Amino acid sequence: MKTLFIAATLLSILFLSACQSNNQEELFDRCNTENLVFDGDIRPILSSCVSCHNQSNPQGGIVLDSEEAVAAVALDFSKENTSRLLGAIQGLPGFSKMPPDDNSMLSECDIEKISTWVSTLEPIQEIACDTINITYSTHIQPMLNGCVSCHNTSNPSAGIDLSTEEKVIEVALDQSKGDPGLLLGAITGVKGFLKMPPEESSPFSDCDITQLSIWIKKQTPVVTAPDCDTTSLSYDLDIKPILQSNCLSCHSENTQRGGIDLSTEEKVLSVAQNTSKGAEGLLIGAITKTEGYSPMPPSGSPLSDCQVSKITAWVRAQ
Ligand code: HEC
Ligand code: HEC
Ligand code: HEC
Repeated sequence: MKTLFIAATLLSILFLSACQSNNQEELFDRCNTENLVFDGDIRPILSSCVSCHNQSNPQGGIVLDSEEAVAAVALDFSKENTSRLLGAIQGLPGFSKMPPDDNSMLSECDIEKISTWVSTLEPIQEIACDTINITYSTHIQPMLNGCVSCHNTSNPSAGIDLSTEEKVIEVALDQSKGDPGLLLGAITGVKGFLKMPPEESSPFSDCDITQLSIWIKKQTPVVTAPDCDTTSLSYDLDIKPILQSNCLSCHSENTQRGGIDLSTEEKVLSVAQNTSKGAEGLLIGAITKTEGYSPMPPSGSPLSDCQVSKITAWVRAQ
C-alpha cells in the first residue's frame, strides 16, 4: 500500500513536471521578440530587480531603474568579454546569477527578449567619444586609411598627399579655400570644398569629426613666416610692443583715429571681436588688408608677416 502511494506520487510529480516543461516550450514558441521597446517589454521584466538595483540601493554597484542605466550595464563587456546583464541573467560562468536566490531564474522568453533588445543597442564607443588624448597614430591615421590609395606621395590626387603626419597637418591647415581648412572642409562636405571620399556616404562618425577638429586645433594655428614663433603668445610681451610702435600714435586713449582705441588689452580685444564688417573682426581685417577693411597702418612701414601672424594667432587663441 505504502509503495503504491509513493509510486503514485512519483508518477504525478513526473507527470506534473513534464506538463510544466511542455507549457514552457509552448510559451517559448510564442515568445515575441519583434519590435521590442524598453518601457513596454524590458522594464516590466526587470521590475523584480529594481528593489536591489536602484540609485539609492545599487547592490553590486548595479543600477537598473532607467533605460540608460540598463543599457550601460548591458554594454559593459568588462567581464569575460560578455554583456554583464546577459551574463548575470543567464548565470554564465564568472557572473553572479541574477536574480540571486537559488532557484529563481527569468523565463527563457524573458531572457530571449532581453538578449534581442541588447543586440539592438548602439555600441558603447558611440556614447563615449575620447576627446582628451587624441593622437595622430591612434585616432587620425586610421580614419584616413581609406584616403591614402588616392592621396599618397606617388599618386597625390589634386596635389594632396595624406600619407604622413606632416603632410596631413599641411592639408589640414591649408586655408586656401577658407575655413575650416582643406581636410575638414572636404570630409564634412562644406560648401565650396570637394566632398571626400568621392561618391560615397561619409564613413566618418560624429566622434571622428570631433576628434579630427580637436586634433587640427592643436596644430600650429596659422601658417607663419619661417622662424616666427606664434605659440604661447602673451599680450604684454608680444602684442603690446607691436601696437605701441606701429599703431598707438593714431589709436591711443587721447587720439582715437576712426574711433579706434588700442591702448589696453581689453580695448584691443573688443576691436578684434568687432565683427561689424565681417567674421575676421576689425583688427585682423585691417592688418591683413582684407577687402572691405581700411588697411592698417595706412602709411609708413607695414607690419611684417611675422607681426601679422602673431596678432592673428593671439586673437584666435582668445
Ligand atoms: C535581492 C536583491 C537582488 C535582486 C532582486 C537582484 N539582484 Fe542583481 N545583484 C544583487 C547583489 C547583492 C549583487 C552583487 C553580488 C555579487 O556580485 O555577487 C548583484 C549583482 C548584479 C549584477 C552584476 C553581476 C556580475 O557578476 O557582475 C547584475 C548584472 C545584476 N545584479 C542584475 C540583476 C537583474 C537583471 C536582476 C533581476 C532579474 C537582479 N539583478 C535582481 C542583488 C540583487
Ligand atoms: C578614389 C580616389 C579618392 C579617394 C578614396 C579620396 N580622394 Fe580626395 N580627391 C580625389 C580626387 C580625384 C580629387 C580631386 C578632385 C577634383 O579636383 O575634382 C580629390 C580632392 C581632395 C581634396 C581637395 C578638396 C578641395 O576642395 O580642394 C581633399 C582635401 C581630399 N581629396 C581629401 C580626401 C580625404 C580626406 C579622403 C578620405 C576620406 C579622400 N580625399 C579620399 C580622389 C580621392
Ligand atoms: C597714421 C595714423 C594711423 C596709424 C599709424 C594706424 N591707424 Fe588705424 N586708423 C587710422 C584712421 C584715420 C582710421 C579710420 C579710417 C578709416 O576707417 O578708413 C583707422 C582705422 C582703424 C581700424 C578700423 C578699420 C576698419 O576697417 O573699420 C582699425 C582696426 C585700426 N585702424 C587698427 C590699426 C592698427 C592695428 C594699427 C597698427 C598696426 C593702426 N591702425 C595704425 C589711422 C591710423
